[in-house]
Amino acid sequence: MDEQSLKKLRDWFKKNAAKLPWRPADLDAPRDPYAVWISETMLQQTQVSTVREYFIRWMKRFPDVETLAKANEEEVFKYWQGLGYYSRARNILKTAKTVSQFPNSRKELEALPGIGAYTAGAILSLAYHQREAILDGNLVRIFSRLYALDFLPTESRDAAEIYWNYAREVADSPKAYMHNESLMELGRIVCKVKNPDCANCPLRNACRAALENRTAEFPPVKKQAPKDWHGTVLIVESADHKILAVHGGQKFFKNQFTLPHFESPRNATAGLPAQAERYVDADKVLSVENIGKFRHNITVHKMECDVLYIRLNGKATAPASSEIKWIRREQAQDFFANNFSLKALERLLHRTDKP
Ligand code: ADE
Repeated sequence: MDEQSLKKLRDWFKKNAAKLPWRPADLDAPRDPYAVWISETMLQQTQVSTVREYFIRWMKRFPDVETLAKANEEEVFKYWQGLGYYSRARNILKTAKTVSQFPNSRKELEALPGIGAYTAGAILSLAYHQREAILDGNLVRIFSRLYALDFLPTESRDAAEIYWNYAREVADSPKAYMHNESLMELGRIVCKVKNPDCANCPLRNACRAALENRTAEFPPVKKQAPKDWHGTVLIVESADHKILAVHGGQKFFKNQFTLPHFESPRNATAGLPAQAERYVDADKVLSVENIGKFRHNITVHKMECDVLYIRLNGKATAPASSEIKWIRREQAQDFFANNFSLKALERLLHRTDKP
C-alpha cells in the first residue's frame, strides 16, 4: 500500500476510532502488553460488543500477569464463561504461569501456549510499537478486495505468503501499530463482509474491487473439500403395505418427511442395525434385506447409502407423534419431496426379485 493510502487510513482512524476499554484515548501511546494479549485473545473468536464487558471485568480481577498466574483454572473459567472456546482461557492461564516478564520477540511469543502469529503481531505492534505484521479476517478481506485476490491465505503456503507480504508492507513503518489497528477497525465498520460502505472508505481510490464494482466477489467463498459419508436408509413396510416416513431428527432433512436414515459403516453386518430400533420394534420384524445402494450429494457430502428393506409382521399402527407417518406404498413416490428418499424407493420399486 502506498504512503498516500496509509496516510488516508491513519487520518480516517484518528477521526473514527471507536472508544474501547483496551484502547487508550491517545492512539499513539504504547500499551500494556498484558492487556493487549488478553483483549486480542478475547477478540479472536468473539465480537467487539461482547468482549467489552468481559475485558473490563477480567482486568478488574486480574489486572496483571502476576495476579493471573496465582489464579486457578476454575476461577479463570468463570471470568471467561460465555466467551466460548475455553481452550483460549486454559492457554492464557498456562502462559501466565510460565512467564513473569512478557517477551518482546515474535519467536518467544509464538512459543507460548495460545499465542500464534496474529496475537504475537498484535502484542509486538500495539504494545511495543515494533514493525510487526498481523493478519486476521479483517485484513484478509481488505487485502483481497484492494488487490482483487481471488484466493484465500488458507489455500496454500504460497497464498498465505502473498497475504502476509501485504501485511508486512503496511507494518514496515514506525506507525505499524496504527496501520494494523486501523485496518482491523476498517474491516469491522467499513469493509464489512456484507454491504461494505465503500463511499466512506479512505482506501476506495486504491481498491480494485471497489473501482470495478466487484466487492461481492472478494474474498472468494471457501471451497470446502468434499466429505465422504456412508449411511443406511430404511424402507420399513407394514403388513398392510405402508411405508414409514419420519420428520425431523435426521441429519440432512430437518423440515420435511424423509425415509429414516443414519450414518453407518460401509460394510455393516447383516440383520437389523441397532440404530433402526429407533424406528421399528425388533420383535415385529419379519425380514431385513439389503436391496442395493445409491449415491447422492448434499452440500459437501458425497453420500453413498445402503437401502435396507424391513418388512414387519403387523399392520401400521397409529403414529405416536406427528413426526411419524405411514404412507401407502403406491403413494410413496408422490409423497416424498426429496431425491434422497426417492432414490432409495426406486431400489424397492424397480427390484427384479420382488417377493
Ligand atoms: N479486532 C480485533 N482486535 C481489534 C483491535 N485492536 N481494534 C479493532 N478491531 C479489532
